[in-house]
Amino acid sequence: MEFFEKVVVITGGTGGIGSQVADLFYNAGAKVVIVDINEQKLKEVAVKYNKNILTIKVDLNEESEINSMFHKVLETFGSVDVFINNAGTEGKLCDFEDIQIDDLLSVYRINVFAPLLCMQHCIRHMKNRGGSIVNIASVAGVAGSPKLGVYSSSKHALIGLTKTAALENVTNNIRVNAICPSPVKTRMIDSIDSMRTPGDFSKSRKEYEAKIPMNRYAEPIEIANLIYFLASDKASYITGAAYRIDGGMGARA
Ligand SMILES: NC(=O)c1ccc[n+]([C@@H]2O[C@H](COP(=O)([O-])OP(=O)(O)OC[C@H]3O[C@@H](n4cnc5c(N)ncnc54)[C@H](O)[C@@H]3O)[C@@H](O)[C@H]2O)c1
Repeated sequence: MEFFEKVVVITGGTGGIGSQVADLFYNAGAKVVIVDINEQKLKEVAVKYNKNILTIKVDLNEESEINSMFHKVLETFGSVDVFINNAGTEGKLCDFEDIQIDDLLSVYRINVFAPLLCMQHCIRHMKNRGGSIVNIASVAGVAGSPKLGVYSSSKHALIGLTKTAALENVTNNIRVNAICPSPVKTRMIDSIDSMRTPGDFSKSRKEYEAKIPMNRYAEPIEIANLIYFLASDKASYITGAAYRIDGGMGARA
């Protein structure tokens, strides 16, 4: 019961990685807030967990909905101890010279602006009480990623915000970290693989898996375990980090 009575908010909490994260914290005794745009899945989650759970439908594109979400969490549970900025979107694949500002904006709204606004709310609230924030970036946030310039640049931005927020809040006892996963078996990577090799989804996957020393995509629970660790007191000396979790990819030159 490591998180007994702690309030943990997870955006994108009904998704592939987010739902595993929610399970871990719920089983550790936390009061879990699951934030997502997917109403149907939120209903299923509310049935799955019967107490210490709050589900909130939020479109993270909308600043007003983010503000209301924080209001509701504080009204219901009184505090926020851990915040996981997990919701994300992959956008479309395109060549670098075809990147459109509108495409950047639609991906940045969810991958950069929403986590920024959520972090600002958290920091204001956690300033006198401490807390932990974990942002889900990507290996595409620490290296170039052909055809994924929009997504890749959004995750680079998220890491920059993570490090800055961490440095500015060391003395406030607020730890802010990011994680950088390689492909994980969720809807998102299926979507990217389908765009890379249309009509033969498994071709892209096999090509990518061959670049990973462990020769496979990650299971969502493997990513959730790192998020859980970074949020916990066991990671008390870790802040401003951007942890790769990549089956050995980063060890290659
Ligand atoms: N799957 C991968 O290969 C991979 C690799 C590296 C990083 N990531 C990152 O992991 C995080 C989780 O992704 P996932 O793989 O679980 O994908 P997913 O598609 O299963 O989950 C994303 C979740 O975000 C929610 N969401 C999307 N737009 C939203 C909005 N406007 N408002 C509220 N919620 C919204 C979705 O409903 C969904 O539940 C993302 O930030 C993603 O960029 C994924």
